[in-house]
Amino acid sequence: MARIVESVTAMRALVTEARKKGKSIGFVPTMGALHAGHLELMKEAKKLCDVVVVSIFVNPTQFGPNEDFDAYPRTWDEDLAACRSVGVDAVFHPPARELYPDGWGTWVDVGGVTDKLCGKSRPTHFRGVATVVTKLFNIVQPDKAFFGQKDAQQVIVLKKMVRDLDMFNEIVMVPIVREADGLAKSSRNAYLSQEQRQAALVLNQSLSTAFDMAASGERDITAIKAAVLRHIQSVSLANVDYVEIYSFPDLAEIDILDQDALLAVAVKFGSTRLIDNIILTPKRT
Ligand code: PAJ
Repeated sequence: MARIVESVTAMRALVTEARKKGKSIGFVPTMGALHAGHLELMKEAKKLCDVVVVSIFVNPTQFGPNEDFDAYPRTWDEDLAACRSVGVDAVFHPPARELYPDGWGTWVDVGGVTDKLCGKSRPTHFRGVATVVTKLFNIVQPDKAFFGQKDAQQVIVLKKMVRDLDMFNEIVMVPIVREADGLAKSSRNAYLSQEQRQAALVLNQSLSTAFDMAASGERDITAIKAAVLRHIQSVSLANVDYVEIYSFPDLAEIDILDQDALLAVAVKFGSTRLIDNIILTPKRT
């Protein structure tokens, strides 16, 4: 039965106890509204670690002033049941004041990889993510922490943070879990109307087109980007925020696909902004 933990002190006590018994700790940070994508991270953590801790915390510092913090889905009872169904040991669910008490004021700002892709349209987002994840790492002290490729830039930013700040946590990236029709699972899919939900299939389809182009030998990054953009713009409900390709995992500008590259897209359907991505590998000759 998963323990529910709401205070930093109690969370620390639980992991200290586990460590004393020589157990390894796996950690899955989430904002709740759990779906099969989150559960996959937990299953991976169960495979690789003795004790699995999940955090459920809708982190206010990573939402911009006009973003969906208030509207973000909160489904505690279902989330707890989901964690229990996969055998999670502890669910850390602190109130906001526990992590951000009066007088709190220290930020973690990761340089270099946060000013592009989602960092461009959400300029304070990664600062909030890096800050809360640092706090959570300090509280849970995991050996391994599990994050989804769904938010590939988040994984890149957090790996860099761990490197730059000499943290000891290993970051494990888990592949994207999709619906049967290809739409990447996301808590924000719940906001979509039926028509928008249908239109959003263009995301995965356009990534597949790019994957096929790369597999058949296309190396011109501009040509691949243009094909993806054309494909998405052929759907009238889709409003493109960005279509970008950078080297993976460094996020450097590239003109030619001669190394692994991240093709990432962000597209709005009504007021709902969805992201998706794929890693392109050059055709080996
Ligand atoms: P959240 O959006 O709840 O996502 C929690 C984790 O689940 C992230 O690592 C995310 O990449 C992963 N995830 C979401 N959808 C997925 C899918 N379809 N397939 C695989 N993994 C998926 O990301 C956050 O929360 C927050 O920024 C957080 C790291 C918790 C910091 O507040």
